[in-house]
Amino acid sequence: MKGVILAGGTGTRLRPLTQMINKHLLPVGKYPMIYYAIEKLREAGISDILLVTGKQSAALYIDFLGSGKNWGVKITYKIQEEAGGIAEALELAESIVHPGEKLIVLLGDNLFESSLTAYVKEFDMQPDGAKVFLKAVDDPRRYGVPVMDGELIKRIDEKPENPQSSYCVTGIYMYDSSVFGLIKGIEPSARGEMEITDVNNLYAAKGKLTYHILDGWWIDAGTFPSWYEATEKLREYPKINTGDGQ
Ligand code: G1P
Repeated sequence: MKGVILAGGTGTRLRPLTQMINKHLLPVGKYPMIYYAIEKLREAGISDILLVTGKQSAALYIDFLGSGKNWGVKITYKIQEEAGGIAEALELAESIVHPGEKLIVLLGDNLFESSLTAYVKEFDMQPDGAKVFLKAVDDPRRYGVPVMDGELIKRIDEKPENPQSSYCVTGIYMYDSSVFGLIKGIEPSARGEMEITDVNNLYAAKGKLTYHILDGWWIDAGTFPSWYEATEKLREYPKINTGDGQ
């Protein structure tokens, strides 16, 4: 299974810091935000990782992370020229995913406690389709909100006025390689973005979208309050061995 970390975007809700540096390079505890996503994938046995980012900070990522050799992973990079949505960024992974291969996608600003190891193993056994990870939240209107039907998701509403459940769809996604064909079939939304929710809804319409409720805490660290909260949660994070002796 390939890993894809999406670390582009403009980070408008963290301005002015993000005018200087890409959001996913901001410190959270002892490490830049991006470290946690790489570590989650590495821990789950995903060693082939694509990092998608914008032009602004690409050189810094390469400087920090290099080839990934010191972590025991292989990191390659793709540039998203302009922020055009999660699905558009994900499409850049098409050339590195073989037909029939699966992928796990992490939004780089989604920080969470749970290990992905068991989930990755389980999705490997799922014949095809996609899986999303849910978390109960106080204000689902900020997120993609799932409507569940037994073990499947029937539909996801993106930032709905009247949420149909108290869960949000987190930025942890698993797909089979048909995802790239599905991305080609969607159009930009009213906010001008290629929405990952539209892609997920194509899986849902075919009865191919499964889910898990994520254990432990989860934070979308894209705003100041949630970034502070993440810093608090990850203060005592165990040392990440990046092989550089730091
Ligand atoms: C994106 C997705 C949304 C999801 C959220 C999780 O929202 O569109 O469905 O719930 O990430 O962090 P965005 O952060 O782009 O507004």
